[in-house]
Amino acid sequence: MKLDNCSAVITGASAGIGREFARQLAPRAQRIVLVARRGDRLEELRLELQQTNPALRVEIRVADLSVLEQVMELGRDLSKDQPVDFLINNAGLGDYGSVSTADPRRLNEMIQVNVLALTALTRALLPQMIAQKRGGILNVSSSAGFLPIPGFAVYAATKAYVTSFSEALRAEVRGSHISVCALCPGPVHTEFMTVAAQRQPRSETAPEFVHVPVEKVVRAGLNGIERDNALIIPGSMMKIGMALARLSPIALMRLGWRFSKGRV
Ligand SMILES: NC(=O)c1ccc[n+]([C@@H]2O[C@H](COP(=O)([O-])OP(=O)(O)OC[C@H]3O[C@@H](n4cnc5c(N)ncnc54)[C@H](OP(=O)(O)O)[C@@H]3O)[C@@H](O)[C@H]2O)c1
Repeated sequence: MKLDNCSAVITGASAGIGREFARQLAPRAQRIVLVARRGDRLEELRLELQQTNPALRVEIRVADLSVLEQVMELGRDLSKDQPVDFLINNAGLGDYGSVSTADPRRLNEMIQVNVLALTALTRALLPQMIAQKRGGILNVSSSAGFLPIPGFAVYAATKAYVTSFSEALRAEVRGSHISVCALCPGPVHTEFMTVAAQRQPRSETAPEFVHVPVEKVVRAGLNGIERDNALIIPGSMMKIGMALARLSPIALMRLGWRFSKGRV
């Protein structure tokens, strides 16, 4: 899908990867709808984008994507004025710690935002894209979705859903001129880690050399949708690491977990 003059929706645009998507897309898009809970952040970003791109139409939608009614309302409203042809399902959160000690409300929030909101917004906007014979859906998944991760079990499972869902959706819409791409970054310096470590600080953090700058992650995602790639893993270290991880037999992983028992 060519992104020039697109009408885009970016969820989770108030910080990190979503905010960078807005910045990189702004010079090319015709309209961008910014979605998140923190309206003041979105307003700041709107002013910045408008200043640097006077012809761009920037709209703000304050919504809590963990509340299904708000997601459904958003899905209904988004295409009222003008059809949306590019959906970036980026909003998401993690929560470190074992399942047995997790706050059930937090687990619910994670599944609602990472899985249900992403699915509901896709369902809401897809028919119009198919009718227009033009569209792109970029789902921000994670390399965490390739493997079960003790201590990050629910987050990794939600991202496994996103990657699997994206691949199947891509096959379903083949021939409709719709691109579907799963972006699977490894660690990126954003607010993600702070949010995920609210309950339990991480004992081990990923080494610096596997981190990929947010600008590079977003560039890879936008290139991926334009080239109609199915799956993008930004950064050569992560690409190699994930290729090896995906080839590893589950028996080997279980052995590793046995030796690391108690460290979650
Ligand atoms: N950073 C990483 O290492 C990393 C790696 C792989 C994948 N990812 C994925 O990348 C995506 C973006 O994460 P990030 O790194 O940019 O994290 P971030 O800096 O924490 O940004 C998360 C965004 O999601 C929004 N969000 C969270 N809960 C929401 C809710 N209930 N309703 C509406 N919006 C909500 C936040 O907005 P408000 O708080 O204003 O609502 C914020 O804009 C996520 O899907 C994450 O899983 C991140």
